[in-house]
Amino acid sequence: MKLVAIYGSPRVNGNSDLMLKNFLEGAATVPNVTIEEIRIRRLNIKGCLSCGYCDTKGTCIQKDDMHKFYKALATCDRIVVASPNYFYSVPGQLKCFIDRTQALFMAQKLPADVDAGLRPLKSQNRKGFFLGVGATKGKRLFDCCKKTMYYFFDAIGVEYGGDYCVNQVDKKGEIKKYPEILKKCREFGFNFVNSD
Ligand SMILES: Cc1cc2nc3c(=O)[nH]c(=O)nc-3n(C[C@H](O)[C@H](O)[C@H](O)COP(=O)(O)O)c2cc1C
Repeated sequence: MKLVAIYGSPRVNGNSDLMLKNFLEGAATVPNVTIEEIRIRRLNIKGCLSCGYCDTKGTCIQKDDMHKFYKALATCDRIVVASPNYFYSVPGQLKCFIDRTQALFMAQKLPADVDAGLRPLKSQNRKGFFLGVGATKGKRLFDCCKKTMYYFFDAIGVEYGGDYCVNQVDKKGEIKKYPEILKKCREFGFNFVNSD
């Protein structure tokens, strides 16, 4: 089973990084799981140009780091995204990455005889999970993030498999004060790769 793990925060060793690290520790205890980690902050990924190139070619015209990940996104069995809440959504760098998967979304719509870059695998069993963290209390703090993740997963042929979002954690690494949250992340990680 191949799990793709996306670190969405620009902050190194911040709260979402630690949630994901623990999630992956749980996942790694399951035999035969291979993990590919993607750290968005290290990448050169530009925003979608809405140029329409992928509508007919099924791939993106822009030459940057995004091309390193299309194959993994199209073929992985599981995907997990960890992100801080920025203005009730996700950081811009992560959003650029998500927008650029429009190429995979278009590829799967092209007729079979068109040489479209990579088409996402159509399997019942591809699933995605979202880990979120934000500073404030609001009950609806993660509504927008969850919707974004739902449609990101949907665009790459992945079913929404669950989420774990934590409010009122702000300072860098503050989440370490809550070992019960990190324990839950490990449990979610284990269960996520252990499920059908
Ligand atoms: C640009 C920016 C925007 C933010 N917007 C929100 C927000 O709208 N709501 C909220 O609860 N927290 C907001 N936060 C706080 C972060 O979500 C919070 O600090 C989180 O713990 C950061 O996670 P990280 O350490 O993984 O980056 C914002 C932080 C930044 C830097």
